[in-house]
Parts: sequence; structure tokens; C-alpha cells
Amino acid sequence: MRAVALIGAYNVSVIDLAVPVLQNATDAIVRITASAICGSDLHFYHQGNGSPEHPTPIGHEAIGFIESIGDAVQSLQVGDYVVIPDNVDDGHFNFGPELPISYGSSELGGCQAEYVRVPFADDTLIPVPVNSSTDELMLDYLLVSDIFATGWTVLDFAGFEPGDTVAVFGAGPVGLLAAYSAMLRGVSKVYSIDHVQSRLDLAKSIGAIPINFNSSDPVEQILAAEPSGVTRSVDCVGYEAVNAQGEVELGIVLRNMMNVTSRYGGIGVVGVYLGNEQLSMSMTQFWGKALRMDSGIVLPLQHATELVQLIQSGRASPSFIVSSTIGIEEAPEYYRRFDQHLESKVVIVFP
Ligand SMILES: *[C@@H]1O[C@H](CO)[C@@H](O)[C@H](O)[C@H]1NC(C)=O
Ligand SMILES: *[C@@H]1O[C@H](CO)[C@@H](O)[C@H](O)[C@H]1NC(C)=O
Ligand SMILES: *[C@@H]1O[C@H](CO)[C@@H](O)[C@H](O)[C@H]1NC(C)=O
Ligand SMILES: *[C@@H]1O[C@H](CO)[C@@H](O)[C@H](O)[C@H]1NC(C)=O
Ligand SMILES: *[C@@H]1O[C@H](CO)[C@@H](O)[C@H](O)[C@H]1NC(C)=O
Ligand SMILES: [Zn+2]
Repeated sequence: MRAVALIGAYNVSVIDLAVPVLQNATDAIVRITASAICGSDLHFYHQGNGSPEHPTPIGHEAIGFIESIGDAVQSLQVGDYVVIPDNVDDGHFNFGPELPISYGSSELGGCQAEYVRVPFADDTLIPVPVNSSTDELMLDYLLVSDIFATGWTVLDFAGFEPGDTVAVFGAGPVGLLAAYSAMLRGVSKVYSIDHVQSRLDLAKSIGAIPINFNSSDPVEQILAAEPSGVTRSVDCVGYEAVNAQGEVELGIVLRNMMNVTSRYGGIGVVGVYLGNEQLSMSMTQFWGKALRMDSGIVLPLQHATELVQLIQSGRASPSFIVSSTIGIEEAPEYYRRFDQHLESKVVIVFP
């Protein structure tokens, strides 16, 4: 089969790999119909994982049909249509220092491939209804695998309630779907903060108020519109956040959130902070305003039924963020384009 793999910094390749086989009675093999490139794939792309001799398979957002199942799989059948969430659920997610098992290792393989082995299939896979509308909703369902679930859940992290005002830092795919989720959930106003105009245009198209931090301080811009601050703010950027000069400035989003969030408000963080970075923010401000803050990895399964139903009923259509659907051989070019912010979301579709 063909599969996307990292072979160095800013370098992906499409390689031949053996089709995975069942290794355990709880496994399923899924034939993938669509797989997305994620912003978190770009962290590995920048880090330069893999080499030409040891390519590292990549990808963790996919949808497809079950090709085969192990003897112990009970709730699923060959032919079922399923979303493959980004994390593997072994039945008891570990929220300690250990992160859940995820794709992208040579052992488990990546989801940007024609087939993937899914361990603990009963607990992991999200079934999707199959009928006349299934094909046209494929890209919407696909996004439940990670970013729609992440954009939805970061609002929970911030303690969101209908009627709130929300500042979403980052208008990448997750930030856009956080703003979109806020609209679906009855936000009164949502601000979308970024420095890439095309992303802000997309945010505006769904009813968010765009704030470009290139022109002036985003905190001042938001406080000019909301003198006592917004009730919730969410970080959809993480450790690679940049300032107005385009330089990485660790912690800038957290500091901005402390400034724009009102008393008794809440902060949610899904942007990635891996590598034990120390950063500074005002604890006095956090304590003084009596803020709350939740963060961490989102488990798509938590809201899967709700999100699948929203899509199935036509109330949600998160695929508005998809800018290109491509064949797998085009992956190297589209990693470049996505990294350069020329694409908002890229999906590899398999015939
Ligand atoms: C990717 O790696 C291959 C093999 O080392 C090399 O030939 C090619 O020039 C690299 N491409 C980029 C864009 O770095
Ligand atoms: C294999 O399946 C058994 C249950 O049948 C489970 O306890 C075990 O953790 C699984 N191991 C892997 C590596 O999937
Ligand atoms: C598709 O199937 C689901 C149940 O499997 C059903 O709820 C839904 O209404 C169906 N949609 C269409 C358009 O037939
Ligand atoms: C904002 O500034 C950064 C760095 O100077 C630049 O890369 C980016 O294109 C700018 N964006 C806009 C919309 O001006
Ligand atoms: C943000 O908060 C810090 C710490 O309280 C304060 O020093 C700074 O002036 C504030 N920035 C704005 C733009 O309000
Ligand atoms: Zn992802």
C-alpha cells in the first residue's frame, strides 16, 4: 500500500509499505477512504522525525471501512463505516504523565495510508451511519476524528455556557472549529485572533469577529470592544505561537488570555505544550480575577455521538474548513502548502 512518511525536516515522502495485518484478537484493519493532514503533524514535520533509511509513518485523522476484525471484536463488523479517532482507547485512558497511544510510530503505522491497524477496536472506533447521505458527509464525519472534537471540547475546558463571549486564539483548523462550535452552542460573540488574513476571512465567513494582531495589540483590540473582557478564552495555538513580528514567543497566548478574560471567566488550552517548557504569566492576575483553566488532550470519543448526530441531521458541517482534497501522491507538495498557510485543511482521499 501507499503511505505518507516523514524522512527528515520539512520532508515527507510517499512510500510502499506492507498492508497491516491483525496482530491481536481485539484489532481491526480499516481500509481508509479519507485521511486529513493535521496541524500537529506539522510539529513532527518541523522537528524532522524519520530519515530516508527509517521513514516514520504519519497521520492520525481518518475514516474508512472495516476490512477485517479479530475474534474478540464484538460491537463491529466487516464493512462497517467508522471514524478512526486520533487516540487509541485501551479501555482505560491514562491521564497521568503517560499520553494515550497514538498513530505515527513504525509499530502502529500512520493514518495517511490506504490501510491501518486499529488496536482495541471496540473501544476505539466511532461508527458512522451508512446511507444515501454518507458519501457527501464523509469530510464532515472525518473531522470528528480530532479537530471538530477538539474545537468543541476546548469550550468545555473554558466552562462555556450559551450567551458567553469567547476569544479564540488561533484561526487554524482547530481554532476555526472552536469558533464554529461556539456559534453552534449559542455564543453571543466570538472573536477570532490570528495574523493570517485568509484564516481570518474564513472565521469572518462563519460569523466570528476577526482580530489581526499584525496591526495592533490583540488585547487592546478586544478590550476596546469588550471593556470588561470576554467570559471565555481558548488557546488553539500552543508552544509555537508567534508575536506581531512573526517570532515565536512562548506563553504569549496565555498572557493575552489572562488580559482579555473577565472576572470569574474561564480559559481552555488545547494548543500543544510538549517538552516541559517553562513560561511566565501573571499568577496575581489569574488569582485576582478568580479564573479557571483546563487543558490537555481531547478524547474525540467523549462527544462522538453528539457530533456525529449534529452532522447527520445537517445542523453541523465542519468541512467548510477543507481547502483541498488531494490524492496521496500529492502529499509532499500539500504538506509544504499547509505549512506555509496556503491551505486551511488538506484531506487525502482514496479512490
Ligand atoms: C528529502 O530527502 C531526500 C532524501 O534524503 C532528498 O533527496 C530531498 O532533497 C529532500 N527534500 C527536501 C525538500 O528536503
Ligand atoms: C491484545 O488483546 C488483549 C485482549 O484480547 C489485550 O488484553 C491486550 O492488551 C492486547 N494487546 C495489544 C498490544 O493490543
Ligand atoms: C441515515 O441513517 C441514520 C441511521 O443509521 C438515520 O438516522 C438518518 O436519518 C439517515 N439519513 C438519511 C438521509 O437517510
Ligand atoms: C503578519 O506578519 C508576519 C510576520 O511579519 C507575516 O509573515 C504575515 O504574512 C503577516 N500577515 C499579514 C496578514 O499581514
Ligand atoms: C496585560 O496584563 C499585564 C499583567 O497584569 C499588564 O502588565 C499589561 O499591561 C496588560 N496588557 C494590556 C494590553 O492590557
Ligand atoms: Zn490532529
